Amino acid sequence: MQARSWVILTGHSRGMGLAIAEQALAQGHAVLGISRNVNDGLVQHAHQHGAHLEQWAQDLSDGAEGAERLNTWMRTLQPADIDRVILINNAAILTEVAPLQDVSLADLARSTRIGLEAPMQLMQVWLAVTQAWVTQGWTGRRQILNISSGLARRAMASSGPYCAVKAGLDHLSRCVALEQALHPHGAQIASLAPGVIATDMQAQLRAADPSQFPDHGNFVALKDQNMLTSPADAASKIWTYLDSASFGQEVITDLREL
Ligand SMILES: NC(=O)c1ccc[n+]([C@@H]2O[C@H](COP(=O)([O-])OP(=O)(O)OC[C@H]3O[C@@H](n4cnc5c(N)ncnc54)[C@H](OP(=O)(O)O)[C@@H]3O)[C@@H](O)[C@H]2O)c1
Repeated sequence: MQARSWVILTGHSRGMGLAIAEQALAQGHAVLGISRNVNDGLVQHAHQHGAHLEQWAQDLSDGAEGAERLNTWMRTLQPADIDRVILINNAAILTEVAPLQDVSLADLARSTRIGLEAPMQLMQVWLAVTQAWVTQGWTGRRQILNISSGLARRAMASSGPYCAVKAGLDHLSRCVALEQALHPHGAQIASLAPGVIATDMQAQLRAADPSQFPDHGNFVALKDQNMLTSPADAASKIWTYLDSASFGQEVITDLREL
C-alpha cells in the first residue's frame, strides 16, 4: 500500500530542506528527497515515524537527467493510492559572492542550472504526469512550492546570479499559475521567500570577502543579533502554509508576512 501523500523535495540533505523533510516524515508524508548526498540520519528518522523515505543522490546541475529519472519514477506510482502530491523546489546555491565580472562562467552555469533550470524541468515532468492522472479522473491535491528569496524582489550587489535565478523562479511560478488556472483541477503553486535561515548558505555570505560584498556587515549583524530563523521554525511555518486553504492564492509570498 502506498502512502496517501508524496512530497518530492530537492535539497533535502541539509539546511532548511532537511528540516522540511524531517517534519514531512513526522507528519506521515512519504518523501522522495533529491540532493547530491543522501542523509543517513533521515533514514533513522523515517524509521522512527514509520514513514516512507526514498533518497536520490542526484546532481541537479544536470536537471534533465534528474527530470527523466523523476518521470520514470512517477509513472510507477498508483494515483488511486495517493490523495496529495507536493513538489518542493528547494535546492539552490550561491555563486562566489563577488561582482559579476569576478564570477567564473562555470559557477554562473551551475547556479542557474540548479536554481532555475532544474526546477523548471522537474515542474514540467511533475505537471505532465499529474495532469495525466487528473485526465483519468484523479481528484487529489497538487501543490508546487518553489523556494524563492527576498533577493528575487530586492537587488543586492555581488549576488546578481542568485538574485536573477530567484527572480526567474518567481516569474516562472506566475506563468505556471496562469496556466493552471485554466484547468478545472489545476495545480496550486507558490513561490515563497523563507526569510533569513541559519544554514550553510548564510555562513557562506558571512565568509565572503567584505571588500567585494557591500552588504557583508548586514549579514554578520543578523547573526550577531540572533535574527536568524532556525531551519526547524522555518519548516514548521512552511508546513502550516502548505496545509492551509490559502496556499497558492497569492503566487508570490513571503514567510515573514504569512
Ligand atoms: N538560508 C537562507 O537564509 C535563505 C534565505 C532565502 C532563501 N533561501 C533559499 O532556501 C533554500 C534552502 O537554502 P538553505 O539555506 O537550506 O541552503 P543550504 O543549507 O546550502 O542547502 C542547500 C541544499 O541544496 C542541495 N544542493 C546543493 N547543490 C545541489 C546540486 N548540485 N544538486 C542537488 N542538490 C543540491 C544541498 O544538498 P547536497 O549538498 O547534498 O547536494 C542542500 O540539501 C534555497 O533555495 C535558498 O536559496 C535561503
